[in-house]
Amino acid sequence: MKTNTEYTILWIDDHWSEKRDVGDTSASAAYDNLCSFSDRLQHSLGAYSRMIRWVKVIAPSAATAMILGEKIDFAIVDFEVPSVDKKYDLPRVIDDIIGKCIPFCFLTNYPGGVKIFVDLLSKEKLSHFKGIYTKELADVSRLGSCLLSFFQIPSFSIVHLSDLHFSSVQNGSTTSLAGEQVLLYEALIDFFEKHKSQFNFDALVITGDMAAKKPEVDLQIAREYIRLIAEKTISLKNLERMFIVPGNHDLTWSNFDALQISSNPWKNYVDFFNAVYIGYDGAIQQLDGWTGSGLPATLTGPGLSWRRELSYPNIDIIGISTVNASETSKGNGLVTQNHISYIKGKWSNSPGHFKTRILLQHHNIMPVYSGSTLDKRTILENPGSILNCLSACHCNIILSGHTHFPEVHIQEAYKRNQTGLIVSKPVICISAGSTGNVFERHPNYFNILKFHSLDPVTKTRKLSINHVQYISDDGKWSLCNDPIDLTLSPSQ
Ligand SMILES: [Fe+2]
Repeated sequence: MKTNTEYTILWIDDHWSEKRDVGDTSASAAYDNLCSFSDRLQHSLGAYSRMIRWVKVIAPSAATAMILGEKIDFAIVDFEVPSVDKKYDLPRVIDDIIGKCIPFCFLTNYPGGVKIFVDLLSKEKLSHFKGIYTKELADVSRLGSCLLSFFQIPSFSIVHLSDLHFSSVQNGSTTSLAGEQVLLYEALIDFFEKHKSQFNFDALVITGDMAAKKPEVDLQIAREYIRLIAEKTISLKNLERMFIVPGNHDLTWSNFDALQISSNPWKNYVDFFNAVYIGYDGAIQQLDGWTGSGLPATLTGPGLSWRRELSYPNIDIIGISTVNASETSKGNGLVTQNHISYIKGKWSNSPGHFKTRILLQHHNIMPVYSGSTLDKRTILENPGSILNCLSACHCNIILSGHTHFPEVHIQEAYKRNQTGLIVSKPVICISAGSTGNVFERHPNYFNILKFHSLDPVTKTRKLSINHVQYISDDGKWSLCNDPIDLTLSPSQ
């Protein structure tokens, strides 16, 4: 029965199959050992064994049909080098496994001989290879750990910054940061250095408004600091784990105080994007609308949208630019039909493997009056569109900013489907607050999102939202000691 099964392991075992075919099982010490090994292996997986469907006793000739026709999550290949010949056709089966990108390992009484075979495989073919294990019982726990490390969904953490508002303009005109903002960012770097071992900072998310009032200069200052933040969190070797979307202050204005709208809203942002991602080839090409020589001067539709998927941490992120850069909009947020199509096109299938889908956009979903006139004037005009879309696409987390206050809202989206049933899926909307705006006298915040490992019995996982606040009197960032704890269902 597959009711509670989430993973299928294909156990390709030529000897076992052969002996069963002739009915000779009891006399075979090797077969008994293998049964014992198999039982202990399943026992070593504990509660996870309930989530696994084992497909065993499949001769290599039958394995190809399984590999090509079914969803196989892992393959254990019994590979006895002395017996390998064209009759068993194992090398071809291994090619099938590699061709379908299925993680696999070898189980053998002849590890030395198998290693010779493995050494002949190209580096590219070995990317899903998970090791050689003997059939000695001593290897049970080793193989068990290999499977657990693959199936367990490990914990990971995301640093979520927003509205950094690097400002080159204070008290007139300068080209460097005001002292107060310099202190705040130095303290931020200090915080990351001190807490790296506690959280491990697996990904860095920035939901827009890196600039304040003059994007052309502000974004040049921002790029240096953001590179430094990336270095202290994810490290510059892992820039594919940094995710950025633009905000209204990055695109709309050339001079905010003079109410001058930018004539080329994308240029400064694209220059910034290229600069912060130096060392990570291909970041700019992911932007929807990229032409090869730049972005077109005016973009309608899903301009600046992108999607990036990581196997570790197990996340699938889409970023969209909700900035309505038209002259009349002046920075309002808008989710276009093209955005919706873009997201549905990428996320039409179910996520599988408890992959966490996250949408990034600058504008907060809920129009919260923040004490300034900011949110009153510039809001997301159609939040229901994106909520319905995400609910249908099994994406239940939105990370945003713009409101300058840390907010968490859970929206229940009710939809009537074709058979008349009402489907409700919660969408968790998390705003980070403003990390760097020191000019409005609001407290500064950012979030550290900790996704805990999957509970194998309930198949849920906990998400802890940790607020970190800047205490300006102390010149330090302080981790609030009462995180918001939510429980995520498998689709989240
Ligand atoms: Fe904003």
